Amino acid sequence: MGREESRAERLRQQYYIERMRDAVLEETAETGRAPTYYIETLGCQMNAKDSEKLAGILDEIGYVPASLEDTADFVLYNTCTVRENANLKVYGHLGHLNSVRKKSNPGMKIAVCGCMMQEPDEVQTVREKYPFVNIVFGTHNIFKLAELMYRMRTEDRMVIDVWEGTDEIIEDLPAIRKYPFKSGVNIMYGCNNFCSYCIVPYVRGRERSRDRADILSEIRALAEDGVVEVMLLGQNVNSYGKTLDPPVSFPELLRDIEQIDGIERIRFMTSHPKDLSPELIDVLASSRKICNHFHLPLQSGSDRILKAMNRHYTKEKYLQIAGELRARVPGIAVTTDIIVGFPGETEEDFLETMDVVERVRFESAFTFIYSPRTGTPAAKMENPVPEEVVKDRFNRLLARVQQIGQEESGRDEGRVLPVLVETVNHQDSRMVTGRLTNNTVVHLYGDASLIGKIVPVRLRESKGFYYIGELCRREGQAG
Ligand code: 5AD
Ligand code: SF4
Repeated sequence: MGREESRAERLRQQYYIERMRDAVLEETAETGRAPTYYIETLGCQMNAKDSEKLAGILDEIGYVPASLEDTADFVLYNTCTVRENANLKVYGHLGHLNSVRKKSNPGMKIAVCGCMMQEPDEVQTVREKYPFVNIVFGTHNIFKLAELMYRMRTEDRMVIDVWEGTDEIIEDLPAIRKYPFKSGVNIMYGCNNFCSYCIVPYVRGRERSRDRADILSEIRALAEDGVVEVMLLGQNVNSYGKTLDPPVSFPELLRDIEQIDGIERIRFMTSHPKDLSPELIDVLASSRKICNHFHLPLQSGSDRILKAMNRHYTKEKYLQIAGELRARVPGIAVTTDIIVGFPGETEEDFLETMDVVERVRFESAFTFIYSPRTGTPAAKMENPVPEEVVKDRFNRLLARVQQIGQEESGRDEGRVLPVLVETVNHQDSRMVTGRLTNNTVVHLYGDASLIGKIVPVRLRESKGFYYIGELCRREGQAG
C-alpha cells in the first residue's frame, strides 16, 4: 500500500471515529456518564505500544478509562502467544469476564485482539467456546478499532476481522501514552528470522521498516510534548532500514535521533546477535544519549542447539560480541533471554548455556521453558526433553542468573548517578521510583514533582536487583 492509500485509510478511520463519537455523545446524554474501557495487555513492549494506540482511539471516541476491569463497559484483551501459558491466561480471564457479565455487568462488551488472534485455531476456539465475545481482531489492523466498534453496534454477531499479513503501515493515529515523559516508538514491524521455536514471524508478519523521516518527526513531536526517553521498538532492530529505498542503517537512525533536542535517553529492543554491526558498537561507544543497557538474546549456548534454532551465530561469536560491548562501553548492562529444554537439548548442551552465563555475567536474564508452538518447525522436532529434566535445568539456570544478577547489579553502590524518576513508589508514598540508564531500579525519598525528571541520586544501598538512593541536591539549590 502506497502513501496515498494509507492516507485514504486514515481518513476512512477518522470517519468511523466521528460516527462512534456521535453515538457515544448521545449515550452519555442519556445515561449521564461517559462509557468506560479497560485494556489488559499481555506480552511484550510491542503489545504495550499497540495498547496505547487502542487507548488513543477510545479516547477520541469519548470513552474514559475504568478503574476496575469488572465494572468497565468495554474490556479489551491484547493477547500474546509466544508461549502456551500466555494463551491459557487469556481463556481463564475470558471465563471470569463471562461470569462478571452474567452477575453484575450485563452491558459489558468484550474484544480480544493481538498475536493470539492471528492463529486461526485460537479464533475458532473463541468462536465456539466464548461466543459472548463481541470483537476479534489481529495485530495488523488495530487501527480499525473504531470501525469494528461501529460494526459491533449494528451487527448482531461476533465481529471477526483478522488479516493474514499486510504491507500497510498506518501512521498518525491518536495514541495515549501511559507515561508523559517516556514513549515507545515503533521503528519496524514483523520479523523475517524464523527462529525455529518462534511464532512471531507468523503472527506479526514480514519485516517492514518505517520511513526514517516519519520516525524522526514522531520523536521530535514527542520531545516537544515533554518526552525525554524513547524506546525504539522492533523484533530485530539491527536490520532496520535494509529494505527502504534508499536503505538506511540502524546506527544511522540512532545518530539522527541523538540530534533531537529534548530527548535525553534512547533505548531500543530487541537486537539479534547475528546482525549486530561494529558500526552499532561505535555509535554506542560515542553516544551521550543511548542508555547503558543492551538486551542481547542468547537463547542457547550450544552451537548444535543454536543451529537447530536457526539463530545463525555460534557461542564463540556471541561471547565475542558481548565482550566487545563490555570493553567498548564501560558500565554497560548486558541482559538476555534464554530458553531451556529445546527439543534434543542434552546436559552437555545445557552446560554450554551455563558456561555463557558464567562468562558474560548478565545483569539480568529472562529464562523460559521451551513451549512448542503449533506451526513452527521446532514443534515437529523429535526428542522432547522430559519435563523433570527441563525443570531441573531451569531451576539451576535461574538460581545462577539471579545470583550473578544480584552481584553485578550492586556494583555501583555509593556512586552518584542520574535517575529518571518514573512513578510514586507503590509501597511507600513518601518515595518515588526511577531507573538508571542501565535500567536498574532505584527507590528514593521524594515527591511526585520529581516524576519525569532526570536527577542525580546517591546509590546508598544495593538490595540485589534495586537500590535505595538519596537525591543529591546540587549546590545552591534550596531545601
Ligand atoms: N518457547 C519458549 N520461549 C520462547 N521465546 C520465544 N518463543 C518461545 C517458545 N516457543 C522466548 C525467546 C524470546 C522471548 C521473547 O521469548 O527467548 O527471545
Ligand atoms: Fe522470534 Fe527469532 Fe524473530 Fe525474535 S528474531 S521474533 S525469536 S523469530
